[in-house]
Amino acid sequence: MAPELELQVAAWDARGWPRPQIALVTGSALEVDLGDPLLPAVPLAAVVPFTIRAVEGHRLSFELYRTRADRVVLYFRGRLHCYQGFDPHQVAFPVRLAALLGAEVAILTNAAGSLERDLVPGMLAAIADHLGLGGASPLIGEPPRGWGERFPALNDAYDPRLRALARAVAGDQGVALHEGVYAWLLGPSYETPAEIRMLARAGATLVGMSTVPEVIALRQLGVACCALSLVTNLAAGLAPSLPSHQEVMVEGERAAARIGGLLRALLEHPELV
Ligand code: HPA
Repeated sequence: MAPELELQVAAWDARGWPRPQIALVTGSALEVDLGDPLLPAVPLAAVVPFTIRAVEGHRLSFELYRTRADRVVLYFRGRLHCYQGFDPHQVAFPVRLAALLGAEVAILTNAAGSLERDLVPGMLAAIADHLGLGGASPLIGEPPRGWGERFPALNDAYDPRLRALARAVAGDQGVALHEGVYAWLLGPSYETPAEIRMLARAGATLVGMSTVPEVIALRQLGVACCALSLVTNLAAGLAPSLPSHQEVMVEGERAAARIGGLLRALLEHPELV
């Protein structure tokens, strides 16, 4: 998909849109208000070279914001998932576009199930590391020249400096930011209780169906990543109720103000890039 991406970079400049220094991707029900955008929302479908079908509860558009005099944020509202039938290259297309446009930092949010009884719905956690169990990678195939390593290392894929900054900013706002290891599974069914027991033994503290393909693609392109999970439910088998999409959306809306405040402060922070 490199030629299509290059085409979009050229189209971006031709439209006179400013290039971003930061990419923001927000997941299910975690949209934030960043004030007045530099241009009206653009449907994601306008820049990707494949068809996008809408999913309930997932808006798919992007906007540009100026959060400091010298800082433009490319904000993707909603993301693509492998469970929707998109291949990992398609899932990574938006963040790769951001990277090729010059973004040096990406902030990604998601909703996640918790594997720890004291990490309860409503809590926020910075992802410190992941288990990539979705059975797919955006790096499959020959990498285009200039895209970075063929075999990129994923140590510190979740940038320690950005994690510390996020924790400090959250602290300033009186918001507790925990840390967790995120297991990425393909979905879209929730996990079985046996799978959750296995994941817990393997060191996972959070589980979800997104983010990891994007982070892998971003790391290959040298973008520093910060991923924040909102715990929306206790994972399968840990609570009397079944995990449900409804619960995920409700928790997302409940946490909107807290996440919005944290993201706005991070995006305005002088030390983010
Ligand atoms: N499992 C997988 N994905 C999720 C969950 C979960 O429990 N909660 C929110 N996204």
